[in-house]
Amino acid sequence: MPTIQSLHARQILDSRGTPTVEVDCVLSDGAFGRASVPSGASTGRHEAVELRDSDPKRFGGKGVLKALSHVNAEIFQAVQGKEFDQRAFDATLIALDGTPNKGKLGANATLGASLAFARAMAASRKQPLYLYFQGLASRKAELRMPVPMVLVLEGGKHADDSSDFQEFMVMPVGAPNFSEALRWGDEVYQAIAHVLKKEGLNVNVGFEGAYGPNLGSNGKVMDVILAGIEAAGYRAGKDVVVALDAAASEFFKAGSYRLEREKRTLSSAELIDFYEQWTEQYPIASIEDGLAEDDWEGWKILQKRLGKNVQIVGDDLFVTNVERLKRGIAEKAANSILIKLNQIGTVTETVDAVETARAAGFTAVVSHRSGETEDSSIADLVVGLGTGQIKTGATSRTDRVCKYNQLLRIEEELGSKAKYVSPF
Ligand code: PGA
Ligand code: ZN
Repeated sequence: MPTIQSLHARQILDSRGTPTVEVDCVLSDGAFGRASVPSGASTGRHEAVELRDSDPKRFGGKGVLKALSHVNAEIFQAVQGKEFDQRAFDATLIALDGTPNKGKLGANATLGASLAFARAMAASRKQPLYLYFQGLASRKAELRMPVPMVLVLEGGKHADDSSDFQEFMVMPVGAPNFSEALRWGDEVYQAIAHVLKKEGLNVNVGFEGAYGPNLGSNGKVMDVILAGIEAAGYRAGKDVVVALDAAASEFFKAGSYRLEREKRTLSSAELIDFYEQWTEQYPIASIEDGLAEDDWEGWKILQKRLGKNVQIVGDDLFVTNVERLKRGIAEKAANSILIKLNQIGTVTETVDAVETARAAGFTAVVSHRSGETEDSSIADLVVGLGTGQIKTGATSRTDRVCKYNQLLRIEEELGSKAKYVSPF
């Protein structure tokens, strides 16, 4: 096996103009890997630490020079000239950090190193990245093209003056393959622009490329989506279903849920009633973060009431953390996990979260962050781990589309081996 020749981190900008970490890894056989790290806006309280400089004179305190120095000094010193597989490499990072939440090195430092190493190893083996990821699982999953959750409208922390819920997505579950699914999703996205313009509403986009108009009520958002699906020529509930990310931790204030658009404050039980009514009224197949990150009692009720027919996804609840996920499995608090590499900080721990979910019969949705880069590793990750669903924003803006485009390339390469199956 090749040894590690160099590891070099630099500061680059993400899609919001915020600094982030990019790492180059070179192996002794000359193989090269480069990766960069995304960043959230509605970050969960239990996520691994994203290390920022807090130097108010540079980038408003958001610089990542400390994280870079951790890669270029401590991490490089610990791995230089040695050979590793991915698990041993990541174990070295975890041991070097020594905290439960990457609080010393920063998850942006560890993930940059971990992903760059993964890419270099794949290059060394002359293997596509998705096959490298497939090989990391203890039980190899079948390669699968994901059903995309195409974002069409966004609000919450991702678009000012828009809906209370953060993300409204369409899933082309009836499409025959990924490229057709992407076409369907894009056609709905474009049709929604027409619907909004006809009503004199703006089509400016939020962090993840979707529209964020002021529609007055959350129900109105659903109506616009259904109108868009129909105008694009698809059947809502059959060809295309809707997925929500409420990101409820963001509107959980002093023990209740504040829906500012509707001027209503709801208890956990009332918000669950609200979702139940919505799932009866609209073709909603998936609800992410319907409740706040520590409302475990509420989550159990939500799962009990809706979990049979609706995918109940934990994002801030689980933060891609095997320990939190295990609690959620034991307590039956959800039936699905959102997977974000930078919430946990290494490739291996991410693979472990997916495998833990799968063993418990949970689904797993691989996800971008609201702050992204041109790095498209999650496209390869979702295919290699075969989880079957990806959430990576609207069909606009290169930081989002680069993941979809990589999936088009992978589907082309896999040819008839590219499986596309509805998760529902
Ligand atoms: P974030 O949002 O990247 O801002 O956390 C994405 C999500 O909540 O799924
Ligand atoms: Zn979320």
